[in-house]
Amino acid sequence: MDCKQYIAEKLNIENFDINTVAGYIETPPDTTLGDYALPCFFLAKILRSSPVKIAETLKDKFTIDEVITEVNAVGGYLNFKIDRKSFAAELLKEIALKGENYGADTVGAGKTVCIDYSSINIAKPFHIGHLSTTVIGSALCKIFRFLGYKVVGINHLGDYGTQFGKLIVAYKLWSSREQVLSGRLKELTRIYVKFHEEAKLNPALDDEARHYFHLIEQGDKESNELFNLFKKITLEEVDRIYEMLNVTFDSYAGESFYNDKMAAVVRELKEKNLLTVSDGASIVDLSAYDMPPCLILKSDGSSLYATRDIAAAIYRKNTYDFDKCLYVVAYQQNLHFKQFFKVLELMGKSWAKDLVHVAYGMVSLESGSMSTREGKVVLLEDVINKTVEKAYKVIEEKNPELKNKDKTARAVGTGAVIFGALSNNKIKDIVFSYDRVLSFEGETCPYVQYTITRCFSVLKKAGKPKAFVCPDMCQAEYAVISELGKFSDVIKSAAEKYEPSYITRYAIDLAQAFSKFYIDCKIACEDENTRNFRLALTRAVKTVLINALTLLGIDYVEEM
Ligand code: ARG
Repeated sequence: MDCKQYIAEKLNIENFDINTVAGYIETPPDTTLGDYALPCFFLAKILRSSPVKIAETLKDKFTIDEVITEVNAVGGYLNFKIDRKSFAAELLKEIALKGENYGADTVGAGKTVCIDYSSINIAKPFHIGHLSTTVIGSALCKIFRFLGYKVVGINHLGDYGTQFGKLIVAYKLWSSREQVLSGRLKELTRIYVKFHEEAKLNPALDDEARHYFHLIEQGDKESNELFNLFKKITLEEVDRIYEMLNVTFDSYAGESFYNDKMAAVVRELKEKNLLTVSDGASIVDLSAYDMPPCLILKSDGSSLYATRDIAAAIYRKNTYDFDKCLYVVAYQQNLHFKQFFKVLELMGKSWAKDLVHVAYGMVSLESGSMSTREGKVVLLEDVINKTVEKAYKVIEEKNPELKNKDKTARAVGTGAVIFGALSNNKIKDIVFSYDRVLSFEGETCPYVQYTITRCFSVLKKAGKPKAFVCPDMCQAEYAVISELGKFSDVIKSAAEKYEPSYITRYAIDLAQAFSKFYIDCKIACEDENTRNFRLALTRAVKTVLINALTLLGIDYVEEM
């Protein structure tokens, strides 16, 4: 039951399509004037009339029915009242019927979205800086899939560059297969750091590193074997973390995957007269667009980050024929994306407009909570483990009898990390605080998970809801219904704005509405009809909160 759509269809305003009008319809926080409202200001220009007049004309044309029972024009707004009882009955029926598919849609059917996210660098630690791209990208994948899109999740691995030559030199001098296999990423980091220290004293090491990097590029067997070993170790390490966060990928085609696809890009750029040589390097001049030039080839002929991204975009278009290709990457890389998007546009790729840089802010830890001061990186795995440990302690305090404390602590701890990273508008820098993300009172994941356990416990005690006739609802009951009715819209806006935080916000609002209802209304009350209605409401809240968390990659528990 999508009331906004229903109203928009009934209004059928000329020169405006139904979806646009539905998009403008609001649910006012104070429902005394109406359950839905259409501000008519956006219509004024095209309809050449004042919002007040437009609202009045629309009101006169509108016929009320069994769903929309009242319509009023007030100062440029058109306010609608709905038959709350039939709306509630329909909605609860639909949620019960659709269950885990409630909120899903087919708007994306036949369309493909590529999402480039996490995109870690091989042989480098997986640190807190990767948290946002990983969880935002993963949530967007799940959201778009839920809306019927075909989604290709891509981990554009940073697996190209002289650093791999350095690693091979360092490996040969100071490490061994055994040491790498047991020490893993830590060992790779150790020898990489050592290389830099030694190279300061002995610059010849750098030449050697370049030599080995060329060997990798030329397909030399031994060098590639080592390179693949480093890659394998890194991926095994990060897979553990991806598993904790419910993150998966459809492709791991990284930068080196494009080694044999860049010559064609350079050729095309030359043919289209876009390449100029400057200080020996080949560049695309972007001064006409107020941007520094985009570097395509260094003077020694080697490719750059942008060259590989151009090749990757073309490859993705040819392979997946995407309708959109998203890049979930920190805003520090704004210029890079603007530059290579522009180059593709200049190459005449009409689909360059479908490339979107989904930028996000930085995550840092509260000062003093970890050894960032000592210049050490904060490993993501350590942050997750520490949050899980803290969650375990809280659970032990609150509910020492609980079975499955480990499983619960994992769901609560990792959920807190994910939800914490998704809670803000994505472009904001965030400071991660263990206590804040784990608080049971604040606008947090544990609060939402706790609300779900409340629903489970109510339903366990009182049994499944049976058939009911929707009763007159009090304010608290209707507030829950009104929130439940927004879910489908929220998912669509989250996809449209690339903002999973709309869903975290929504989960909090619904949980808060439920808490108020839980306090105000006795669910297991005497009157059978009311009891069944309230139980159906509780079950619907449980379903929708679980669906919301699932879209974010967060698990729930039945008890905590
Ligand atoms: N590996 C890069 C980094 O850590 C991010 C890659 C993002 N994706 C892309 N297609 N450029 O900065």
